[in-house]
Amino acid sequence: MTVALIWAADRAGAIGSGNTIPWRVPEDQRRFRDLTSGHPVIMGRRTWDSLPPRFRPLPNRHNIVITRDASWSAEGATAVTDVDSALHLAQREDDTVVISGGEQIYALALPHADTLWVTDIDLEIDAPDAFAPAVTEADWETVADHGWQTSSTGIRYRYRDLARRG
Ligand SMILES: NC(=O)c1ccc[n+]([C@@H]2O[C@H](COP(=O)([O-])OP(=O)(O)OC[C@H]3O[C@@H](n4cnc5c(N)ncnc54)[C@H](OP(=O)(O)O)[C@@H]3O)[C@@H](O)[C@H]2O)c1
Repeated sequence: MTVALIWAADRAGAIGSGNTIPWRVPEDQRRFRDLTSGHPVIMGRRTWDSLPPRFRPLPNRHNIVITRDASWSAEGATAVTDVDSALHLAQREDDTVVISGGEQIYALALPHADTLWVTDIDLEIDAPDAFAPAVTEADWETVADHGWQTSSTGIRYRYRDLARRG
C-alpha cells in the first residue's frame, strides 16, 4: 500500500500563488500524469478549482475532492468531507493512492504518507501563498535524485523521490 504526496515547489518551498501554479514545466506535467494515471487522486477543493475546466476531472483517475461543504459537487469528482474518508475510499480501490495538493491537504495527509514525489523548481516566485509541507531528514530519506534538468521552457527542475524512514 502506497500513499504518495506529489508536488512541485520553488526554492522557498512555494507551490502556488493566487490559486495557481506560476510556472510551466511540461515535462513535470507529463511526470504527474504518468505517476498518477490509473490511481485515485485526492485533492483539496481549491486545487480542484485551480484546474482549468478542460483538464478536470483528471482523466483515467478517480478524482476525490475534500471539502467541508457537504453540498458541494462537480461533474467527474467524488466529494468527501475529511481526509480519512478520502483515504478509506481510495484505498478500497487501489494499492497506490496519490495526494495532489494543495497546501492544506498536504498538511493533513502527510502523517498518512510513506512516499513523496517532489519536483524542485529552480525559481523563486513572486507573492507565494501556498507552500509544500516541511519534511525533515530525520523522517524522510531521499531514495532517488534524478538530477537537474532544463525544461523546454528554460526552467531548471529536479525530481526527487523520498521514502519515510522506519
Ligand atoms: N505546485 C504544486 O505541486 C501544487 C499542487 C496542488 C496545488 N497547488 C497550489 O496550491 C494552492 C491551493 O492550496 P490550498 O492550501 O489553498 O488549498 P487546497 O489544499 O487545495 O484546498 C483547501 C480546501 O480543502 C478543504 N479542506 C481543508 N481542510 C479541510 C478539512 N480539515 N476538512 C474538510 N475539508 C477541508 C476546504 O474546502 P472548502 O473551502 O470547499 O470547504 C479548503 O478550502 C493553489 O495555489 C494551487 O495552484 C500546487
